[in-house]
Amino acid sequence: MSQVIEVKVPDIGNYTNVPVIDVCVQPGDAVKIDSPLVTLESEKATMDVPSPAAGIVREIKVKLGDRISEGHVVAVIESSASAAGDGPSPSAGNSTAERARSLDASPSQPTGARSAQAAAPARPEAPRSTSAPTSSLSVPPLYPGGSAFTLGAHAHASPSVRFYARELGVDMGKVRPTGPKDRILKEDVTVFVKSVMSSGGGSGGTGLDLLPWPRIDFQKFGPVETKPLSKIKKISGQNLLRNWVMIPAVTYHDEADITELEAFRVEMNKENENSGVKITMLSFLLKACEIALKKYPEFNSSIDGENLVLKHYYHIGFAADTPQGLVVPVVKNVDQKSISEIATEAGALAKKARDGKLTPAEMSGACFTVSSLGGIGGTAFSPIVNAPEVAILGVSKSAMKPVWNGKEFAPRLILPMSLSADHRVIDGALATHFNVFVAQLLSDVRRLVL
Ligand code: COA
Repeated sequence: MSQVIEVKVPDIGNYTNVPVIDVCVQPGDAVKIDSPLVTLESEKATMDVPSPAAGIVREIKVKLGDRISEGHVVAVIESSASAAGDGPSPSAGNSTAERARSLDASPSQPTGARSAQAAAPARPEAPRSTSAPTSSLSVPPLYPGGSAFTLGAHAHASPSVRFYARELGVDMGKVRPTGPKDRILKEDVTVFVKSVMSSGGGSGGTGLDLLPWPRIDFQKFGPVETKPLSKIKKISGQNLLRNWVMIPAVTYHDEADITELEAFRVEMNKENENSGVKITMLSFLLKACEIALKKYPEFNSSIDGENLVLKHYYHIGFAADTPQGLVVPVVKNVDQKSISEIATEAGALAKKARDGKLTPAEMSGACFTVSSLGGIGGTAFSPIVNAPEVAILGVSKSAMKPVWNGKEFAPRLILPMSLSADHRVIDGALATHFNVFVAQLLSDVRRLVL
């Protein structure tokens, strides 16, 4: 026999007057056990009130924006006969917890309720049973530990929308939210899927139709050890992936003759041995880049939709290798600082980076980045542009090379430079001009200190 069930808001912790942000069903809909009926949003979480039984929605008792609390009836469900038969009878005195357990069918032991709902067609024209007894079968508590609770501090979509996206294989990070407080609605997921399909994203189009990441049991091939990625690696990995995929960057290689510059640097450091300040190659690089950013302002810009934002400040980041991973501290207002001031500040920032003590402010606001691997080695590499910047200069290890001076080969200290630039803003000619200019500055220390 079918049974009419009033579905009430269960125990939702200490929350009261929680707004209804989504009504997931309408009268006539067939629902399964645990199908979301309405979604509530407290300050901290979004929660679906699920159906406690399979059946047909007869009435919806709330509307969007209503504020409700524990015990409020949200819907009336007419449970299917087998569901009611298999499910616990509310009048039998089952506790909510007992009922929750009995409704929680495991896949290996499907209940009659699950079997019945699996066969139910969508929105059937079933006649309403007037003789069906009314009960108020409630649902399990919706707080941590409760089966229907969803972490909400960072939630941007209700559990039902997440479930819908998961079923379609949609990455929620790519969906543009249109709901209040940037919440992703079911319609947003649908719009995203449609846009991917119409852009040919399924195959051979503009979407990335990638193979899944290979899952290999490495132990088949030899002993292994698994370690979690550091927090820095996880965060920088996400950024690097986005930048690699989204920026059409080209790397331009060049060389700078730093023979005189290095001689000057060594001499300065010798003279100021006891001052505690060590002039580094990095400080000259930051200064040279700042001067070049002024001469080529496109390098000091960011894409913002259809606009280019040109900056009139000169903050330059530098990649710092730390035991926890790569970080990018930023020397602010490089144009207002001398080379020795830049060296002191960069040295202090690099130390803080290694000690894991950099603040977010010390890592933000960069216009451009320098990545120096020269202290380690290498002859060239392709640095990844750090969005929303449009270019990054990498330098490798300088080496003595024979250079033809018009009369003879002379030994010169040559610094390899690798400039990656976003081709949407900087074309090859401009990038090469920038490289040539930076190389000129580094070749003639007078131009740097002027
Ligand atoms: N060619 C040859 N030698 C170089 C050089 C270059 N391009 N750059 C630096 N050196 C030398 C320095 O002169 C120094 O030698 P010294 O002590 O005899 O003077 C030595 O290498 C060590 O320098 P380094 O530690 O690199 O200091 P720095 O001030 O030049 O650089 C950092 C500071 C923070 C950039 C550097 O420590 C670092 O972390 N580099 C790695 C950046 C990175 O990982 N980039 C890749 C991103 S994917």
